[in-house]
Amino acid sequence: MSQIDRYRPDDRRAVEALYRRVFGNDAAEASRLRWEWQYRRNPNNAGQEPEIWIAREGRAIVGQYATMPVRLSVRGGEIQGSWGMDVMVAPERQRQGLGEQLFRMWDRNVGASLGLGLSDSSYRLFQKLRWPDVGPVPCLVKPLTRRALRRPNWPQPVNRLVSALTLPIVRIVARTRPMAAEVVTIQRFDESFTALWEELAPKFAFAVRRDAAYLNWKYVGAPHVRYSIAALRRDARNVGYAVYRHLHEPRGRVTLIVDFLADPADEAGLRALLHWVDREARQADSDKIRTFAMHGAFRRVFRKSGYFQVKSTMELVAKVNQVEVDRAFYEKPEEWHVTLGDSDQDR
Ligand SMILES: CC(C)(COP(=O)(O)OP(=O)(O)OC[C@H]1O[C@@H](n2cnc3c(N)ncnc32)[C@H](O)[C@@H]1OP(=O)(O)O)[C@@H](O)C(=O)NCCC(=O)NCCS
Repeated sequence: MSQIDRYRPDDRRAVEALYRRVFGNDAAEASRLRWEWQYRRNPNNAGQEPEIWIAREGRAIVGQYATMPVRLSVRGGEIQGSWGMDVMVAPERQRQGLGEQLFRMWDRNVGASLGLGLSDSSYRLFQKLRWPDVGPVPCLVKPLTRRALRRPNWPQPVNRLVSALTLPIVRIVARTRPMAAEVVTIQRFDESFTALWEELAPKFAFAVRRDAAYLNWKYVGAPHVRYSIAALRRDARNVGYAVYRHLHEPRGRVTLIVDFLADPADEAGLRALLHWVDREARQADSDKIRTFAMHGAFRRVFRKSGYFQVKSTMELVAKVNQVEVDRAFYEKPEEWHVTLGDSDQDR
């Protein structure tokens, strides 16, 4: 019989070995690099053991559910939320109900249990357990060069033809425009961003609290990636930000807008941030810019700024326990603010 309880410091080696068996060597090595930061330095978990549940059989560890505690703003109030991240069961013990026990233990202990960007098996388990399925977080792409429309699964001549045919459209959406507000790069988030979050939080039906401590942990202190941060300023005040990075993919260079914040009613502000990122992406020689955005008002501004909505595989499930919400809450996530920066999606 297995028993589920909280992680203890001397579980670390056995958990690493199980991770290697379930996810492979490369993923295990990458996880080891992030581990201290991801689990111990999370400001929402200060001074406590990481929020990880372990399934034990005798002295053996046969499963874990590792999670990320966050403060979650739900319809103006703040509750304790938890992103479920690295869930795994030993291969020889899968499909015997252990995963379900781990999911339920986690859910019983948190104010909201949340999942983003799920594997096929965990998505099916969430469905089986009837977690509210919010759907994928929409993905938006802005092409900057004709290479942007290439597909790795198309043969070379098809890719060339598509590039040539779409060049006039790409030229129109990628043209540079003058900037409307002040945008500056910053190295850290100061406390004015906590004040900004407190002012904006009531405007979102659902969003992780983006205060200075969280933002610095997530985007300044991450050991595995380097981000650039742009602050939007008006009347000598910070009124928004964008976090982005450039990377190589098999078919070209991409700039990812990982996270951003502005007043959803401040169209000019978000546009100014997007113009800034356009220029940065061009300087980095990117073929396209990609982002994920749930909020309807933000998505409209992206579309007006030359982004196209494309198929997204970043599934979102969410179950709010600590406060009462009705079904309509999950069915209309138009005012939810969820981005690629949420959970541990940007690995
Ligand atoms: C996801 C995981 C933790 C589930 O644990 P588990 O102990 O197998 O789950 P349970 O036995 O409690 O539940 C089984 C249900 O999960 C889903 N499921 C689990 N494995 C599945 C698979 N390989 N394919 C499809 N569905 C699967 C199904 O809904 C299944 O129900 P069914 O057996 O009635 O069809 C486990 O499969 C695992 O470790 N997977 C590999 C790692 C992984 O993908 N982690 C998720 C990262 S987001």
